[in-house]
Amino acid sequence: MNVVMIGAGYVGLVSGACFAEFGANVHCLDVDADKIARLNEGKMPIYEPGLEDLVSRNVAEGRLHFGCDYAGIVDLADLVFIAVGTPSRRGDGHADLSYVYAAARDIAGHLRGYTVVVDKSTVPVGTARQVHRIVAETNPDADFDVASNPEFLREGAAIADFMRPDRVVIGVQSERAEALLRALYRPLNLIESPILVTNLESAELIKYASNAFLATKISFINEIAGLCEAVNADVHAVARGMGLDGRIGRKFLHPGPGYGGSCFPKDTLALVRTAQEHDTPCRIVESVVEVNAAQRARMVRKIRETLGGNLAGKRLAVLGLTFKPETDDMRDAPALAILPALIEKGAEVSAHDPQGMEEAKQLLPEEVQYCDEIYDTFHDADAVVLLTEWNAYRGLDLDRIRALMRDRIFIDLRNVYEPSEMREQGFQYVCVGR
Ligand SMILES: NC(=O)c1ccc[n+]([C@@H]2O[C@H](COP(=O)([O-])OP(=O)(O)OC[C@H]3O[C@@H](n4cnc5c(N)ncnc54)[C@H](O)[C@@H]3O)[C@@H](O)[C@H]2O)c1
Repeated sequence: MNVVMIGAGYVGLVSGACFAEFGANVHCLDVDADKIARLNEGKMPIYEPGLEDLVSRNVAEGRLHFGCDYAGIVDLADLVFIAVGTPSRRGDGHADLSYVYAAARDIAGHLRGYTVVVDKSTVPVGTARQVHRIVAETNPDADFDVASNPEFLREGAAIADFMRPDRVVIGVQSERAEALLRALYRPLNLIESPILVTNLESAELIKYASNAFLATKISFINEIAGLCEAVNADVHAVARGMGLDGRIGRKFLHPGPGYGGSCFPKDTLALVRTAQEHDTPCRIVESVVEVNAAQRARMVRKIRETLGGNLAGKRLAVLGLTFKPETDDMRDAPALAILPALIEKGAEVSAHDPQGMEEAKQLLPEEVQYCDEIYDTFHDADAVVLLTEWNAYRGLDLDRIRALMRDRIFIDLRNVYEPSEMREQGFQYVCVGR
């Protein structure tokens, strides 16, 4: 089966490599010629565990190819996936669909024979029908269907998620399109991954509803964590007590500095916007967005108050910049909101991240000092601020840190350490909700 991925970003590259691993012949096309050149030299544009091996194996076996030109490639495709970005549109929070529509126009001119054009990007309900209209208008002779196949992979565990998904969602208009997509995902039958076939609109909405629900769990536990601090409760005990109820579940009940990343912030905003446009506001999701912004501000207040209310001249050792571990993705990371606010209030910041520092340098204020070695971050620091729970920060040499620091304040915004143990070690230890 010939598969084309339009967009060789996080989703396009991982999905393309995994489809190749399933046995399809896959071409990943991208407008970014540098990215394609680097991929053709075997260099990965993102850090994702296991990706380099998967890509190089499938390239070597002749099933995975990278290029910029649609001609001669899209023509031969059975399935063309659109996996381009859908960032928040400036000003109104709506998903910016210009890349999706541009891709649809570019694809249309090259379609030969029956082809299924599949939206894999996260797109608001109604987009697949717009893609159908654009392709049909651009190439009235094209023999095609449009389908929606939203992607649920998590950065940092993207390959495992793709190869062993909780479910595959396929939104279709025709049995012919359904049959092709089912054939592509056939290798998953062996592990009995559920394949849910719906209409186009339901598939599009499943993706937003899922992300909004997960974001809701995070904002919910962050609010409960604030309450725990006020009433001397321990949010870990509360979350565990809740999560053991099978109806609630334990996942996504970890308090922290608020959700970030390339999906939740933009997808919650886009869902709010879509709901408003259809005159059925999603009030819960509107609150989730507000609570998340407030949580970031609360973290800045927490740091400032812990340091006596004045950050001028205080030196902070910041551990972790990416929005979560095992990725170099800095999109909408809490660090991008929290660090500038701390610096504006006079703090000096030295920072470490195992993978995200190159990207962070483009996005954070130039005052931030970056340390390649974790322990260099602590020199003369008044406080440690643990912002992302990378494994490298889970077993820190506390004696060594104490010796390097000016003061012994440890602000753990991911609750990695045990409060009693940290206090025994002589730290003034502050975390979230306990
Ligand atoms: N990153 C994730 O974890 C994740 C998970 C699930 C879904 N999604 C969704 O998948 C979509 C893609 O996200 P991403 O993180 O992979 O984005 P990305 O920015 O990493 O990649 C998008 C790629 O598309 C390319 N592109 C743009 N227009 C193009 C065109 N006309 N032709 C060819 N290439 C083009 C860009 O150059 C870029 O390389 C988004 O809608 C996102 O919401 C992302």
